[in-house]
Amino acid sequence: MIDNPLIQIERLSKIYTMGDIRVLALREVSLSIQRGEFVSIMGPSGSGKSTFMNILGCLDKPTSGTYLLDGVEVTRLNKKELARLRNKKLGFVFQNFNLLPRTSALENVELPLLYSQVPSRERKARAREVLRKVGLEGREFHHPNQLSGGQQQRVAIARALINEPSILLADEPTGNLDSLTSVEIMRVFQQLNEEGMTLILVTHEPDIAAYTKRIVTFRDGKIVQDRWVEKPLQAEEELRLLLEQKQAENYAVDLSNSL
Ligand SMILES: Nc1ncnc2c1ncn2[C@@H]1O[C@H](COP(=O)(O)OP(=O)(O)OP(=O)(O)O)[C@@H](O)[C@H]1O
Ligand SMILES: [Mg+2]
Repeated sequence: MIDNPLIQIERLSKIYTMGDIRVLALREVSLSIQRGEFVSIMGPSGSGKSTFMNILGCLDKPTSGTYLLDGVEVTRLNKKELARLRNKKLGFVFQNFNLLPRTSALENVELPLLYSQVPSRERKARAREVLRKVGLEGREFHHPNQLSGGQQQRVAIARALINEPSILLADEPTGNLDSLTSVEIMRVFQQLNEEGMTLILVTHEPDIAAYTKRIVTFRDGKIVQDRWVEKPLQAEEELRLLLEQKQAENYAVDLSNSL
């Protein structure tokens, strides 16, 4: 049996109306994504990437077209049903982390479970487990301002994972991070993808898209290119190279200082 696509979008349009002005943000976009894919969404500013992600994430509704998420026609659901679907299936990661300040990493990660029936002990155990998964063991009680940008983004990823979603959506997750930290975040994403998670991320940077398996490019609300990455960069490998390079540089600095 062939599996249905996890995401199946057909002729999806989104029109924003502001007074007399109509913005055609998406124009009859069609796209299918299978379980286990790792897709990046690229395109110039204003091309409709975030609009598309918001619809994918059930945060917004299209003006027309169809969106089947795991076989469910999302456009027919009411607000409550949408929220339930979102909690069950989707995790979100944003450019500016969106963490609560003056709140520990552990509590930030627990947050999505606060209003569920999950008892406190289990919430904490699950939060610890996902923090460990993103490499933040020992940082449970740090507040966001006591963590680096990359660590804050890991907390945000852990928070997105706590409900065990089938899809992780990330809008410019490395937009505020330096290049080394960005590769570290891509390593976390690649590990999740290897474990079977479906990931979709928006990025402006071709260097970041090179770590994903498929690149979909938007322009003026349309998909203008959809291609497989022949040989995605391996973050683990790149990190090793970057580290070696750094060590060599430090060594050269030490050497010149001692002369
Ligand atoms: N809430 C809104 N109301 C009205 N127009 C909007 C709204 N959100 C987006 N738009 C318009 O829709 C178009 C697509 O915007 P979108 O945010 O999806 O672009 P983007 O590709 O994510 O851009 P960027 O790379 O700058 O984040 C733009 O012309 C934008 O001005
Ligand atoms: Mg955007």
